[in-house]
Amino acid sequence: MKDKLEQLLATATTQIGEAGTEAQLQSVRVSVLGKKGDLTDIMKGMRDLSPEERPQVGALANEVKDRFEELFAKRLDALRESDIAQRLSQEKIDITLPGSTSVAGRKHPITLVTEEITELFASMGFGVAEGPEVEQDFYNFEALNIPKDHPARDMQDTFYVDDETVLRTHTSPVQIRTMLKGQPPVRIIAPGTVYRRDSDITHSPMFHQVEGLLVDKNVTFGDLKGILTTFVHEYFGKNIGVRFRPSFFPFTEPSAEVDMQCVICKGKGCRVCSQTGWLEILGSGMVDPEVFKSVDYDPTVYSGFAFGMGIERIAMLKYGVNDLRLFFENDVRFLRQF
Ligand code: PHE
Repeated sequence: MKDKLEQLLATATTQIGEAGTEAQLQSVRVSVLGKKGDLTDIMKGMRDLSPEERPQVGALANEVKDRFEELFAKRLDALRESDIAQRLSQEKIDITLPGSTSVAGRKHPITLVTEEITELFASMGFGVAEGPEVEQDFYNFEALNIPKDHPARDMQDTFYVDDETVLRTHTSPVQIRTMLKGQPPVRIIAPGTVYRRDSDITHSPMFHQVEGLLVDKNVTFGDLKGILTTFVHEYFGKNIGVRFRPSFFPFTEPSAEVDMQCVICKGKGCRVCSQTGWLEILGSGMVDPEVFKSVDYDPTVYSGFAFGMGIERIAMLKYGVNDLRLFFENDVRFLRQF
């Protein structure tokens, strides 16, 4: 029996050494330790031994079993290791191959400029107000002191939805909507989309404005000049000249258009500023008492100023864009630059 056990261990050792895969190794194990395995067989034969022999053979059988397990475990480790080594050497990653990149989106320049302007006025205490793009005649015109026969209502300029409804032609109706919500003080800007029946190289039927409105006691034209000059200096540069030119709007009196020194030629005169050295950037003025009346503000107690600027124009000057149409064509090569 001892011989049998030693013989078994010798054979198993060879088989373990010859097993080239994990599966082969496992089948060696089954042939030795399985239910019908060789070692199991021998153990079963122990009951025929004499009581003196039994412990000796039992001890040897255990030894063989331990030895077998040890060899088996070693071989298993070795096989697994060489398997990993083989895969490592075969499955190489070529780090010089071009990777698949994901393209990050960008903000549209109009969005970007709107946010920049909003932030700047927010730092001066202005909140943000909004109104609908499909607007009632009352807010877009009537309450802003634009009478029924005013040229601004001409079919040439306004998209009418029906007799009393228009696509807003400016952000000024938000002034009315804001003031109707409560008494002064009011200090808001209102960015948004506006529409006009106008389409050529410098006009788009849809464009964007930022409206501003400040109403309180003792607001003067000096406040208007201060706030708007600060805006130009903060947004375009400290040394840019600003001038206020008398103008007319039905909803402000007095009214002024604001020019800034040409950012391209610094005032010397170029194609962009038509050789004048100045660029018109916004309309403004003191809120007309007629407007206060239509929102139930007392013009003898309160005064205020309002302004409105075209975002596309500001964006063109800020980022040196020379064609309005670029903003609406959505060519990613253009948009990626911002
Ligand atoms: N709403 C005017 C426009 O669209 C701009 C403006 C706003 C002028 C507020 C004065 C005060 O041209």
